[in-house]
Amino acid sequence: MNAETLELPIRDTRIAELSVKQVLPTPAWFLAARGDELPRGAPLARAVNGVPVVLYRDSTGRVAALEDRCPHKNVALSLGRVRGDTLQCWYHGWRFNRIGVVVDVPCHSPTEKIPACAVRAFPAVERDEWIWVTLGADGAPAEPPSYPRDDAYGWFELQNVIHAPVDLILENGLDCSHTGFAHEGLFRSAPRDDIRARIEETATGVRVETLDEHSAGAKDVRSVLGRRQQIRHVDEVILPHTLRVDYWIGDHAHVVTILVATPEDEFRTRVYTRMGVRYGWLTPLVTRYVRWVTQKVVAQDIAILNSQGERIRRYGRREFRNVTADLPAAWMQRAFRGFLDGRYPSGPLRTREITYKL
Ligand code: FES
Ligand SMILES: [Fe+2]
Repeated sequence: MNAETLELPIRDTRIAELSVKQVLPTPAWFLAARGDELPRGAPLARAVNGVPVVLYRDSTGRVAALEDRCPHKNVALSLGRVRGDTLQCWYHGWRFNRIGVVVDVPCHSPTEKIPACAVRAFPAVERDEWIWVTLGADGAPAEPPSYPRDDAYGWFELQNVIHAPVDLILENGLDCSHTGFAHEGLFRSAPRDDIRARIEETATGVRVETLDEHSAGAKDVRSVLGRRQQIRHVDEVILPHTLRVDYWIGDHAHVVTILVATPEDEFRTRVYTRMGVRYGWLTPLVTRYVRWVTQKVVAQDIAILNSQGERIRRYGRREFRNVTADLPAAWMQRAFRGFLDGRYPSGPLRTREITYKL
């Protein structure tokens, strides 16, 4: 077989035909990595919405994102190495530039041209120390979201892999009624007070404000931070993968949480959590304390979500029974399903107030 005949089928196929199914069937920017996880010179493998993606920095430090499968023999490109502005496959050394085009085939014949093939390249943006990737389908916003870190706050970040789907992780973050049990003594205790919650659909998801909450009598993080103060607490899901939680305690304390969940496959999700704490001159100390509590609380939530994911997978589907305290999660689920179908919001945005024991 000469080089001419070899080239023919390859020349017709610039980008591979095969692709893997995306977990969330919707265009969006997904959080692929923290900036400091991607040093220059070393590629990083990630699964982004179910698609294998390799990230690397070119010679200027700019992030490139390619599908993590070599078009030659389908080895993961992330096993290779960064050479200047290109990524070189480990197997036969083919090199690809940041737009995915093959620029070198080291073992070519003297008469052979480089085959006209490429891997998919994805838009990647580094913003506020996070690297966002969109898989390129039409309809994603022009830019990824921005979550800057205000200097008046103390900041820390967590990253966890949870064996549960994205929506159950968002639901968990929105669900106050588990906290007195799953996090007893650390974050709330057995339900005691009637509290009200206002649930609102927003243009981008669902917002839940917990009303009438105060720290008096609490034997947990709220009493340490608040000492009999009024608490203002808002949870907001920004579809399809983000949860923002704000606690304002008294006049001067504020704790903000941004959680972004990136599906790696249907039952495996990488969760990035960025938390900011403002507490006057005690901010550095209180940030360390909140970090300590948060790590314990998150470990409890992960154990629960892993169990929930395992049971749902084993039984083949979900079968939930909702009570009033589950309405924030139920509204979130309705919005989430609608968003994935491309019909959220579909009409006037709804609001509802509920009362339950917390
Ligand atoms: S499999 Fe990548 S160069 Fe051969
Ligand atoms: Fe929890």
